Amino acid sequence: MNQPKTRRQFLQGMTALGVTACVKKPAFCTEPALIQDGEFRTVSDCIPTATNIEGPFYVTDAPLRNDFQIWGDDGVAVSISGRVVTGDCSVGLSNGMVEFWHADPNGDYDNTSSEMKYRGVIMLDESGTYQLNTLLPGRYLNGTQYRPHHIHVKVWDVEGVELLTTQLYFEGDEYLTCDPFANTSLVMPFEGSLDTSIVASNIDLIV
Ligand SMILES: [Fe+2]
Repeated sequence: MNQPKTRRQFLQGMTALGVTACVKKPAFCTEPALIQDGEFRTVSDCIPTATNIEGPFYVTDAPLRNDFQIWGDDGVAVSISGRVVTGDCSVGLSNGMVEFWHADPNGDYDNTSSEMKYRGVIMLDESGTYQLNTLLPGRYLNGTQYRPHHIHVKVWDVEGVELLTTQLYFEGDEYLTCDPFANTSLVMPFEGSLDTSIVASNIDLIV
């Protein structure tokens, strides 16, 4: 019997035997569900950021932090930065707050520990600038369907009034196509890749 000499030959042999790689594929997806509302919006567009559902895993009283890499978990490093602006988009949301929360790299939310992992509030300066360091959130099952990688976001003004609840998604995520919650305007462009590292700049939130 011929032995496979290359990875491709090995995989072809496996397929011939009816064995396929265990890959998270949205086999249920018969038609695209992604909401089409244009490209990611920046300050120069000055169109309010689309809202998205809060989801079931929001927890109040997250600590002030902008670094979610402090626990030393394995994962794809993600840097997200931008401005939170208001009005005609020339003005930062001075002294406002932006809050992020998401699943850990394994797709689990920390809903119970005192550490409140992968949750944090960032105070905004006068320009509304923020910067978040984190790890790529894992996909998790929602019913029978995996949600794409995503980060939940809230924006608050200086008086604590909630101005925005939304989610940010990652360009190139194959699970976006079938996700009924995601909007194209919330899909972040970035440098890098979903397998190595991600730097997303000019991720502006317009409220
Ligand atoms: Fe979520």
